[in-house]
Amino acid sequence: MDYLQIEGRYPLKGEVNIGGAKNAALPLLALTLLSKNKTHITNLPNVVDIKTFIQLLKNLGATCEIEEHELKIDTLSVNSTCANYDMVRKMRASILVLGPLVARFGKCEVSLPGGCAIGQRPIDLHLKALEQMGAKIEIKQGYVVATAKDGLKGADIVFDKITVTGSENIIMAAALAKGKTTLLNVAKEPEVVQLCEILNESGVKIEGIGTNKLIIHGTDRELVDIKNIEVIPDRIEAGTYLCAGAITNSHIKLNGVIPEHLRALSDKLKAMGFGIKEEKNSISISPAKTIKSVDIETTEYPGFPTDMQAQFMALATQANGASVIDEQLFENRFMHVSELERMGADITLKSHSATVKAPCVLNGTDVMATDLRASSALVLAALVANGVTKVHRIYHLDRGYENLEGKLAKLGAKIQRLSE
Ligand code: EPZ
Repeated sequence: MDYLQIEGRYPLKGEVNIGGAKNAALPLLALTLLSKNKTHITNLPNVVDIKTFIQLLKNLGATCEIEEHELKIDTLSVNSTCANYDMVRKMRASILVLGPLVARFGKCEVSLPGGCAIGQRPIDLHLKALEQMGAKIEIKQGYVVATAKDGLKGADIVFDKITVTGSENIIMAAALAKGKTTLLNVAKEPEVVQLCEILNESGVKIEGIGTNKLIIHGTDRELVDIKNIEVIPDRIEAGTYLCAGAITNSHIKLNGVIPEHLRALSDKLKAMGFGIKEEKNSISISPAKTIKSVDIETTEYPGFPTDMQAQFMALATQANGASVIDEQLFENRFMHVSELERMGADITLKSHSATVKAPCVLNGTDVMATDLRASSALVLAALVANGVTKVHRIYHLDRGYENLEGKLAKLGAKIQRLSE
């Protein structure tokens, strides 16, 4: 198995290019199931989760021409509506085929995704909304069996909680439903907005894009002419590199970003004393004279993203003073704490709140990744730690970061991928 070996205490400098957003590309890949034409997707991140999702679509019968960051896909050849356990267990985002499949074919079987390291991750809100649209939902031998033999009907739906993939599933289902669907308390993440924009450009009228209320006028099962798609930049990859610049107190520039998507994080970095310079498609960070401590609470967009919580915690170990980190979205998203403590961090957990006492000196050692964002937090900690750190189980990292070690090495980090 691969691991990353990092020698800490080297400053970074230069520029890094940010790739397409994994969490935008996944629903956009599912969206191609609603297309009556071949769809060309560009700026695809070359990461494991994307390869897995493409394989899922091929298993359903889609024909794909794949290049490193591009895909041409035709789903007219789809002849199966079953997303099996083997695929879904690899990646819970496979649940994103549920809405499109039941909307297009009137039936589908999707394995229940199950929980993961950061929490139980239920899908009750996805299923409740589909039932309100007329689908019959049964759970059979670990599968969601959804049927709507006369197709889905538009409905007035209020999400009890804001759910990103739940919103995306129901937006795609509503696109092919008969009549109008109103969604309240819908997610406003940039990835959800891009999905709505592509559908709107493809002839599915959607009102309220970017707000927490959407009105979607369905096509009554008529497939749509999905336009070519360029995936938006990955705001979490970008945030991770901003934290890399911050934790090494360096000056680096990130190209190919949408600064507004990073605003919650960049505002916190400014409050810590770092210099932030935004241009149209780039953002730069420069050193802080002294790193001040700040508190964060994770919330839905445009608040501080939960997917940046672990990375921020690693940075907080270097601040002058304690930081309180409140994880509001997931019940178990502190798996990185014990590994950071093994490097010397001093973190106290109380329910969903972590207090990071700082500054503290981190020392390199062997650590183990537990989930995607926790693994990037350990890499960040290794960049500032004394000596050598080995980050094991980096298959977690490969799910959502493309060539992290290559991009960091180009910035001056002493990092290499080795095999155990
Ligand atoms: C998406 O997951 C992202 N994944 C996650 O990123 C991200 O952490 C999360 O949104 C929050 O921003 C993708 O977009 C592929 P949710 P998702 O449904 O949609 C509860 C990464 O690192 N909930 O918005 O699964 C749920 O338990 C990943 O790239 C229900 O109770 O998250 C959680 O507490 C990790 N019932 C909260 O809502 C439901 O039916 C938010 O979950 C659905 C969700």
